[in-house]
Amino acid sequence: MQHLVDTDNFSDAQIAQLLADARAFKAQRPPQLLRDKLLITLFFEASTRTRSSFEVAAKRLGASVVHLDPSRSSTKKGESLEDTFANLCAMEPDGVIIRHSQNDTPQILADLEMTPVINAGAGNYAHPTQALLDLFTMVEHFGGEVRGKRIAIVGDIISSRVASSGIRLLRRMGMEVLLVAPKPFMPLSDLPQYESLDEVLDRVDVVMSLRAQLERHATPIFDDYGAYATHYCIDHDRLGDRELLILHPGPVMRNIDISDAVLQDPRCKVLEQVKNGVYMRMAILKLLLLDA
Ligand code: NCD
Repeated sequence: MQHLVDTDNFSDAQIAQLLADARAFKAQRPPQLLRDKLLITLFFEASTRTRSSFEVAAKRLGASVVHLDPSRSSTKKGESLEDTFANLCAMEPDGVIIRHSQNDTPQILADLEMTPVINAGAGNYAHPTQALLDLFTMVEHFGGEVRGKRIAIVGDIISSRVASSGIRLLRRMGMEVLLVAPKPFMPLSDLPQYESLDEVLDRVDVVMSLRAQLERHATPIFDDYGAYATHYCIDHDRLGDRELLILHPGPVMRNIDISDAVLQDPRCKVLEQVKNGVYMRMAILKLLLLDA
């Protein structure tokens, strides 16, 4: 049984297959390969893009999706997460898609070996489907190869599972990763670290902006995100006419992470990432439910 806890669950050949399938699905909608499959989603944290993207991907392939709303489920009555999961597995789904605030929850459930577990975001540790859709977006943008390209990840890196999964996957694919953040947002890392965004813009091919994850800070780190924006917002003054690819996993805090005007700029591929997310998740579901 194959799970997706983080992208290291996939071999290089499987990642190449995912990219090829996502590209083929984008060029031509595939037949309903997962017609007799059923997935359950279990989201313990808020989600707009990821949950709907998984559902659209599953339905495009003909699978059915059942959502369990944990705020209305028996975990609220004291049932343990493992018991809730075992009960769902007794209904014989073909996979469970889970988002949780704890880093190790997807691995704990995967280790029970009851059904394929697909991590839709865990704590600040891993968000593998986002990393894979970002990789797909860059591979497509650069015409098939990201090896040797440089990316600056900018913002609240320490809180970001998108950054952690992205860093592991993009380095593995041969990209050079630079971290750009004010000190409180900078994780412990052996990667090159910068406080100044302006210092790196001439040296990178891609800028990935991240949201300040206010809900993960026990005490507020900045009282004024206007001051943060002065240094880190991607706007036209800062960008100039550089040929950069601008990414953001969403949700974007407008004019703090990226300016209104840059969000409209063709260099900014935020909505393309969302579109690609559906194709990449279709490829992932095919791999886990059909090929594996
Ligand atoms: C992110 C998440 O939840 O990890 N969003 C996403 O899934 N695309 C990032 C965030 O919440 O800022």
